[in-house]
Amino acid sequence: MEEAGSLLAHVFDELEPHIRPGVSTLTLSLLAEKIISEGGGVAAEKGYAGYPAAICASVNEVLVHGIPSAKTILKDGDVVSLDIVVKKNGYHADACRTYLVGIGNEEKEKFIAVTRQAFFEGLKMVKEGNHLGDVSAAIQSYVEGHGYSLTREFSGHGIGREMHEDPSILNVGEKGTGPLLKEGMALAIEPMVLMGSPAVRTLKDGWTTVSKDGKITAHYENTVIVTKDGANVITLQDKERKVHE
Ligand code: MF3
Ligand code: CO
Repeated sequence: MEEAGSLLAHVFDELEPHIRPGVSTLTLSLLAEKIISEGGGVAAEKGYAGYPAAICASVNEVLVHGIPSAKTILKDGDVVSLDIVVKKNGYHADACRTYLVGIGNEEKEKFIAVTRQAFFEGLKMVKEGNHLGDVSAAIQSYVEGHGYSLTREFSGHGIGREMHEDPSILNVGEKGTGPLLKEGMALAIEPMVLMGSPAVRTLKDGWTTVSKDGKITAHYENTVIVTKDGANVITLQDKERKVHE
């Protein structure tokens, strides 16, 4: 799984310089697919439950499962989440990053940073003997404390030979509840955050899920292996490791 994870981190490193005004989400998807196959992996979202593309690329009000398209051209100020799953050696790694396209915007940058930090707040609770609800509660109190909201319709998940395994990892919950964490468990922890109300709806394509109020959304995810005294985050980019170790 670590090999799948480091290939996925490498995919984000390679994609980042291309996330600019004028590029289509289809271009990013094709590039991701190429990097994954050059690295000996497979873009596991393609064909998963009939999903039609190699990655999910969700722009602005699209919370999850945005289908890459030549018609979706990134522009200044867009908030784009790239959610990618690599399968290698029979095992999966799943991660998502959210980027602000082009020129800066303090409000959007803060929103993206809080979404990212929500993952790390949850991560602090990951170690053998803690409850899964400790992770969920940490994410919820951090995000809601900043005045944003979390979807109840989607959650993180166990991961391994399958992309989605037990348990579901809700982004809201109570401390001290849920399954006990045990060394060797593999978890995809993924705060999906809305700037406005948590209500979402799915478009007619059956995938694209948007905020009902049209406000922007963000998503940050890593695959994490539980250890005796903490966690091994297998999808972190090197530049992120420097900040968090
Ligand atoms: N990567 C998503 C997740 O975080 C799953 C995407 S669904 C798919 O669980 F159909 F696109 F694969
Ligand atoms: Co996931």
